[in-house]
Amino acid sequence: TATPHTFPTDFLWGGATAANQIEGAYNEGGKGLSIQDVMPHGITTPRADGPTDDNLKQVAIDFYHRYAEDIALFAEMGFKTFRFSIAWSRIFPLGDETEPNEEGLAFYDRVIDECEKHGIAPLVTISHYETPLHLADTYDGWVNRDLIGFYERYARVLFARYGARVKYWLTFNEINSVLHAPLLSGGINTPKDQLTKTDLYQAVHNELVASALATKAARELAPTAQVGCMILAMPAYPLSPDPDDVFAALTTERTNLAFGDIHVRGEYPGYYLRSLRDQGVELVITDEERALLKEYTVDFVSFSYYVSVAETADVSQRVVGEGNIFPGVRNPTLKASEWGWQIDPVGLRTVLNQFWDRWQKPLFIVENGLGAKDELITVNGRKTVIDDYRIAYLNDHLVQVGEALADGVDVMGFTPWGCIDLVSASTAQMSKRYGFIYVDRNDDGTGTLDRFKKKSFGWYAEVIESNGASL
Ligand code: BG6
Repeated sequence: TATPHTFPTDFLWGGATAANQIEGAYNEGGKGLSIQDVMPHGITTPRADGPTDDNLKQVAIDFYHRYAEDIALFAEMGFKTFRFSIAWSRIFPLGDETEPNEEGLAFYDRVIDECEKHGIAPLVTISHYETPLHLADTYDGWVNRDLIGFYERYARVLFARYGARVKYWLTFNEINSVLHAPLLSGGINTPKDQLTKTDLYQAVHNELVASALATKAARELAPTAQVGCMILAMPAYPLSPDPDDVFAALTTERTNLAFGDIHVRGEYPGYYLRSLRDQGVELVITDEERALLKEYTVDFVSFSYYVSVAETADVSQRVVGEGNIFPGVRNPTLKASEWGWQIDPVGLRTVLNQFWDRWQKPLFIVENGLGAKDELITVNGRKTVIDDYRIAYLNDHLVQVGEALADGVDVMGFTPWGCIDLVSASTAQMSKRYGFIYVDRNDDGTGTLDRFKKKSFGWYAEVIESNGASL
């Protein structure tokens, strides 16, 4: 019988990253610019006109040149899988070309070679917050239906090239985040406050169709591949037992759940159509697109999980500017990270149970972790970080994964975010660290880029070695 800490023998332990946050080499190897090159401060300031020297992502942690060393460190921790994204603008520098850039493709061949050398299964995100800049500037990103064709061409190139070697694929990182961060997530150049609801929801639709087309391409070109969606998971709890608060929480949650419903069931749920009608949104949806969505549903559901929120129908209780970038209101029962993200391990068990009950698809936790400031110190002549806070966060969350497994939920794996320190997405900082591996780089760009193992490195190695028994 299952005990809370019994993990399946084929559980995919690993770690997660994204190209723009680790690779650097932003203009090497024939790479074109991406939206990240005009987002030097993440989503905290309006975009820049072009690349600026204060953008840490230009060098990031130099994974482009140090990938072999980094993957060897992941192997030392016992990783079974490594989640990385392919930078779209390395493969199609502008995004609308017909022929891919061979130098970009060759780079990911080398990354996959290195994974294979260590028996690590690659888990590839096709689009992770790094739309080619040209597509944002010329087409307004995913608002424009032309993006569907450009993305399909790109996905076909990837499946043809890597499909026999890469089993696990994710079509769009946190696809639901386009509602909150249109430039970051959807390459949409029109500022959020000037974007019409119709354009925003058309962008959502275009991405969903593109995701179905990628799944179709995988079926044709890479029959052994499994394609998953990727959703930012965020349970919303009613702030009080007032039925109006309960329904407000459901409404907030549905803004996220709708994406999984469409990816898994292949059609728009009634509550979503009603919300579009209520907002006066009329979408262009062809019969062919409806058929695509219905036929090419996902093999598994992956998600990120960092926070839960509370929700209320009483707008006067909404407090703005408390540091929490997510919708919803602050939960008075929870503590928060230094960046205001509320910490809720039980929420992960709730999400796992809810998603499993709802979709009956294998679930993959492809992001979780604590962004925190670390202090590099010397112990017995070695530089390290004593990151007990990070160990506690991950341990508490993994215990809840164990509980969900005991509840009968099918969980494929766990890839904590930023397994090696990287540049954060929302604030573009180095100092918001998630890693088991410390990277010597500071917010002002100084540092040697040397790597050091934190205390959590040994902790995670033991978790993997014992298949969760050490939790
Ligand atoms: C997720 C993204 O939203 O959260 C990652 O998929 C991001 O790209 C991660 O880095 C953590 O957010 P942040 O802002 O702390 O980097």
